[in-house]
Amino acid sequence: MKTEILKMLRETEDYISGQQICERLDVSRTAVWKVIRQLQDEGYQIEAVRNRGYRIVDIPDVMTREELESRMRTEWAGRNVFYYPETDSTNLRIRQLGDEGAPHGTLAVADMQTAGRGRRGRIWESPAGSSIYMSLLLRPDLLPGTAPALTLVMACSVAEGIMDCEDVKVQIKWPNDVIINGKKLVGILTEMSSQVDYIDHVVIGVGINVNMTGFPENIRETATSLRIETGHKVKRAPLIAAVMKRFEENYEIFLQTGDMSGLAEKYSRMLVNIGREVLVIGAKEPYKAYALGIDRDGELLVRREDGAEEKVYAGEVSVRGVYGYV
Ligand code: BTN
Repeated sequence: MKTEILKMLRETEDYISGQQICERLDVSRTAVWKVIRQLQDEGYQIEAVRNRGYRIVDIPDVMTREELESRMRTEWAGRNVFYYPETDSTNLRIRQLGDEGAPHGTLAVADMQTAGRGRRGRIWESPAGSSIYMSLLLRPDLLPGTAPALTLVMACSVAEGIMDCEDVKVQIKWPNDVIINGKKLVGILTEMSSQVDYIDHVVIGVGINVNMTGFPENIRETATSLRIETGHKVKRAPLIAAVMKRFEENYEIFLQTGDMSGLAEKYSRMLVNIGREVLVIGAKEPYKAYALGIDRDGELLVRREDGAEEKVYAGEVSVRGVYGYV
């Protein structure tokens, strides 16, 4: 009921009467009033005027289940939300929910993580009140080898979702960092539970630096936040809803071929590495090459200095600019 009332309040520019809410939801006036009080306690500014009804004046920066579910404009992505004011890692929460049978599209969101995980065993800084930490559960009917490309689908969707909400230009650093003005804004960590020929579930974890105003010493040079880049505070729930909307659309395109064919062009357009000299760092000696774009499997195509073209596999190597992070 709270989700429905929130939706009605947000969709009505003027006042909405208690009577209208009661009739639409088939509940009592007292029940409606109780929910309004709860919302006010959570920080929503709702005016209650005799003979006119209720009007929402300000929405706090909260990511509760009701706030998120009332904003989703999707069929399945982010339709079933679990919100944690504090948890160890949303990837771990979703993995557990996946094992317990949660449906495709279930989304875990936290305000703070005590054991936020990055790629290559790194820690993901996860302080309270300033960022988005979320993980999406997928149950794709695909072979396990295709799962890594889903990370690229998410990178594309996060980049588009951010640009839908804010007047900024974000780019992708292959394979899945979303960057702005050469600094990292988003990290994505994909994990999979599978058999040899069968995916049980995939967890795509996304960390977006939204309102952080500073970073620890070791990442100060390479990390940034939307607040730093735009100069204003950004509300997190609309951003999550925008990313879910884009992800659902892009995932359907991905499923048509089971690879990046349908998304490679728009992904490559957002790729910061394209046409640039990059340093390919892998198991063998690092080497310099020019980045050409991605192929249908999401691998980076590069041209080595001797003219030979090669594919770079995301699982095996990392790529960075010759002069630094980008
Ligand atoms: C990276 O190293 O770039 C990936 C960072 C991924 C961080 C996100 S935050 C939400 C989810 N939960 C985690 O513990 N990690 C991912």
